[in-house]
Amino acid sequence: MHPTDRIIVALDVDTRRAAENMVDRLGAECRFYKVGLELLTAAGPGLVERLVADGKEVFLDLKLFEIPNSVAGAVRAAGALGVSMVTVHSMGGTGIMAAAVAAAGDFPRLRVLALTVVTSMTSADLAAVGISASAEDQVLRLAGLAEGAGCHGVIAAPQEAGALRGRLGPRALIVTPGVVLPGESRGDHARPGTPRAAVAAGASHVVVGRAVTRAADPAAALRLVRGDLLVLNTPGAR
Ligand code: C5P
Repeated sequence: MHPTDRIIVALDVDTRRAAENMVDRLGAECRFYKVGLELLTAAGPGLVERLVADGKEVFLDLKLFEIPNSVAGAVRAAGALGVSMVTVHSMGGTGIMAAAVAAAGDFPRLRVLALTVVTSMTSADLAAVGISASAEDQVLRLAGLAEGAGCHGVIAAPQEAGALRGRLGPRALIVTPGVVLPGESRGDHARPGTPRAAVAAGASHVVVGRAVTRAADPAAALRLVRGDLLVLNTPGAR
């Protein structure tokens, strides 16, 4: 896969105008956008439809955690918008993940990804909500449930990409937010890694947000992320 197709830019902005401005600035440099709850709520689904109409792929990060009937309805609505990826919380259990996968069956390009443990959480945060497993063990447990429910892949931190690839095999999508460029601040990510380290370990896609969207020159920042991945396409590199 070409590095450009592995990079998903998170459009974490609060208006449709700001989102369209960023998409215009990135132009052909970016083919894949993540739209999350903030932008979807502020801008509405019309923005997603415009991105799809413009030939962009969209990861609609709904992080669904509801009763199976409601999850299925939301997945069908996402599929009708033409998005390529939608997320469901694996902590909601096999029932809601299976409902999401069944609902996605009507939309051939739609992939259901199970969110394992958000990258801002540590093992201590998990303990505070009553989960005694380490973050990595919890991610692997939830990924196993997601696989059993038929999900097409998982969302996890870069540090778990290697163990997940071993657990899920070569075809699963493994999407990692929480990537930072070498030498950059880790920000609010508790379990960060570079794009190169994440993909070398087994991630299929990386999600990058503020490092691109808050840069003085977003296209240049995105080229840095791509450059970090390009070395993996060089013969002999790993
Ligand atoms: O940090 P960045 O702006 O690159 O975040 C991109 C995406 O990564 C966000 O949209 C969010 O879904 C995810 N994220 C996360 N944990 C954090 C920060 C961001 O999972 N601590």
